[in-house]
Amino acid sequence: MHDENTCLPVSRRGVIAGGVATATLAGAPAIARPQPPMKQGVAPTMPVSFTVNGKPRSLDLDPRTTLLDALREHLHLTGTKKGCDHGQCGACTVIVDGRRINSCLTLAVMHEGDKVTTIEGLGTPGDLHPMQAAFVRHDGYQCGYCTPGQICSAVAVLDEIRDGIPSHVSADIVGKPAFSTDEVRERMSGNICRCGAYSNIVEAITDVASKGGKA
Ligand code: FES
Ligand code: FES
Repeated sequence: MHDENTCLPVSRRGVIAGGVATATLAGAPAIARPQPPMKQGVAPTMPVSFTVNGKPRSLDLDPRTTLLDALREHLHLTGTKKGCDHGQCGACTVIVDGRRINSCLTLAVMHEGDKVTTIEGLGTPGDLHPMQAAFVRHDGYQCGYCTPGQICSAVAVLDEIRDGIPSHVSADIVGKPAFSTDEVRERMSGNICRCGAYSNIVEAITDVASKGGKA
């Protein structure tokens, strides 16, 4: 028998021994290559700049930071609440570029240049937004934990209806949706109130809608 590459004579015993050696090598654990040393305790950050409640804000953030945590932990705007942190309760609702979003479901660095409005930006204790005043008038809360999200959502709901955006209960998805209790209940269904203040919340929103958005 000859090796077909070298043309040198090889024995059957030599072929078997070579095969065994190859199989043994293939089954051997990979030899660990030296890795560059990891930097301990230094998370890479990314810069982001946006406007929050009319003020330009710039942050350097771990890119995994949610908008909710950026608002609460970095800008100390704790009016926006963390309920589930999973997009299921609506407590973290804020308005970004005129549309409501769950701030726990979006990364802060995705909002470069955006305009963010939180409950603190809607009104102040001495100058309440009409929706805040209506929630007070109609007792639209009990513990109040869901209330900032409810109010931000409610403000955006009236804008959605005004802008002709249909919901799942709109009879006509092409025409302009009309304001109704069903529309409000459907559109507010992502905002959970564990105290069950729903009927008063709907009354507050209806009150504001009936006055054309005024207090
Ligand atoms: S905290 Fe964002 S939806 Fe519950
Ligand atoms: S007022 Fe308590 S959860 Fe809504």
